[in-house]
Amino acid sequence: KPKANCLKFGCMSNHEIIAAARPNAEWWRTAVIYQIYPRSFADSNGDGIGDLPGVTARLESLASLGIDAIWFSPFFKSPQKDAGYDISDYKQIDPLFGTNEDLEVLLAKSKKLGIRIIVDIVPNHTSDQHAWFQEALAAPEGSAARDMYMFREGKGANGELPPNNWQSIFGGPAWTRITNTDGTPGQWYLHMFDSSQPDLNWDNPRVADEFDDILRFWLKKGVDGFRVDVAHGMIKRAGLPDATIYDENLRERSISNLTMAEAEEQVPYWGQPGVHDAIRRFRRVLDEFDDRAFCAEASMSPLPRLAMWVRPDEYHQAFNFDYMTTAYEPAALKKIITDSIVEYAKVGASSTWVMSNHDGIRHATRLGIAPEHTPRPGDGIHPTDPAPDEALGLRRARAATAFMLGLPGSSYLYQGEELGLPEAWQLEGKYRQDPTYARTNGKRIGRDGCRVPLPWEADATASNGFNTTGESWLPQPANYRAFARNLQEGVAGSTLELYKRLLKERKAFGMGSGEFRWAEEFQDKNTLAYINNGVLVIFNFGPDSVVVPAGEVLVTTQHDLTVERELEHDQVVWIKL
Ligand code: GLC
Ligand code: CA
Repeated sequence: KPKANCLKFGCMSNHEIIAAARPNAEWWRTAVIYQIYPRSFADSNGDGIGDLPGVTARLESLASLGIDAIWFSPFFKSPQKDAGYDISDYKQIDPLFGTNEDLEVLLAKSKKLGIRIIVDIVPNHTSDQHAWFQEALAAPEGSAARDMYMFREGKGANGELPPNNWQSIFGGPAWTRITNTDGTPGQWYLHMFDSSQPDLNWDNPRVADEFDDILRFWLKKGVDGFRVDVAHGMIKRAGLPDATIYDENLRERSISNLTMAEAEEQVPYWGQPGVHDAIRRFRRVLDEFDDRAFCAEASMSPLPRLAMWVRPDEYHQAFNFDYMTTAYEPAALKKIITDSIVEYAKVGASSTWVMSNHDGIRHATRLGIAPEHTPRPGDGIHPTDPAPDEALGLRRARAATAFMLGLPGSSYLYQGEELGLPEAWQLEGKYRQDPTYARTNGKRIGRDGCRVPLPWEADATASNGFNTTGESWLPQPANYRAFARNLQEGVAGSTLELYKRLLKERKAFGMGSGEFRWAEEFQDKNTLAYINNGVLVIFNFGPDSVVVPAGEVLVTTQHDLTVERELEHDQVVWIKL
């Protein structure tokens, strides 16, 4: 609040000035954004695949949860080789999920409920079924149609070797050789993901023009913003040199210990400096409209490198994957939170926080795995891996989330985590659909285990109310029944009620944009404590219980805390000071 002797706005931060002038502006800085994975949220027509009318019918449940916005994973026209991240028409909803009109209905209803909608845009690659790629295949080498993508001559005497050593994120080479229309072997095209996902050529101005048009198309329909897929991959280093660091799959996690210059040099397909021009161009289009926002999926480390992507004229925010993958341990958590707040603030951005998404292992299961057995993101838990401790995992997940939701900035939730849903890690091979599974012959089990449809009403159908037929594109494991939403609704101590309470108090105390500081005076070596807008948040990592200081308990992960006032291990409490 401005002090009396300040000039108007003189004592306010930029963020506060904008918020005071236009109350809706910069909503994304503090928003709790709920990720919907459309095929697994709710199915209206019983074909076993979630759809937009299914979401519309269940929107009230999200309003009662208390979220501010929804981010939808892609629902555009797609052959579904990578569950919709392979788009063949950016302006059409895939019939699997409904129609463009269904989205209008959803947008209208969500507006009434005060929920904003962010959609997923995939600029790094299209589907191989996209008209642009089909034209490119039919057109001769060197043509304008080929120049939309990354076609190159192969190496070797007869071009029989890929143009460089890059590997697909899903396993195997990142290049596929085409056959010319006359049957002879032709050029190679780059695909950082599946061979059905050719990478676009962002050095071609036509690509940028097309995306300006796609962004405007959805902005005019009233979407509130975009999550930008593989934002770190759009621009490749000129000349496409070999990557010079090698781990099993040349995957991005290996670069986290490098300096910026080393990373740009050694991993020539991620985080290239040329990307900032493309980002600024995106931003100019978005800024033609009021109150819209971008969130970048930029897998960049370390934080100062990622912060460059959210400078004032670039993306609004970026997922904080370093936070998501931080060890469950006080010193590490304290460092990443401090670094995030500090590094983003340097460029005028707010931090984001996230524990789960559709590419990882649900945190209710992940936190029940010993660090030395924790798979790499995207690899999934193999059925032969040691079984996670699911009770410990859930207890820790609730605590980690309660700690996260009190932090200033924007938080992302992944559908089902509000139910405490575990990973479906024992899915049989015959159900697996993630391209990673096929491309590595099952060696990396992939991401299907976090993508299983949600249980809504226990025993309503074989799919626990996901639809009325019991069909399910991935079968729910037997233990999902116990997590059904109706068994938790109104039940004190349930994970669902915990989330509702956290979101309510977070809003009531303005913690998304609060004054944050570490509260060393309430901390010992096994606890972390911070104060945000007069709320003290304590995380006890254990093993021993700690006595909770005086003050009203606003919310706690430990159901019986108010009686004993002893906070057990792996529990969190919010206290009004
Ligand atoms: C992103 C998505 C992931 C997808 C990949 C390729 O990482 O989150 O699900 O497979 O991009 O589009
Ligand atoms: Ca359906």
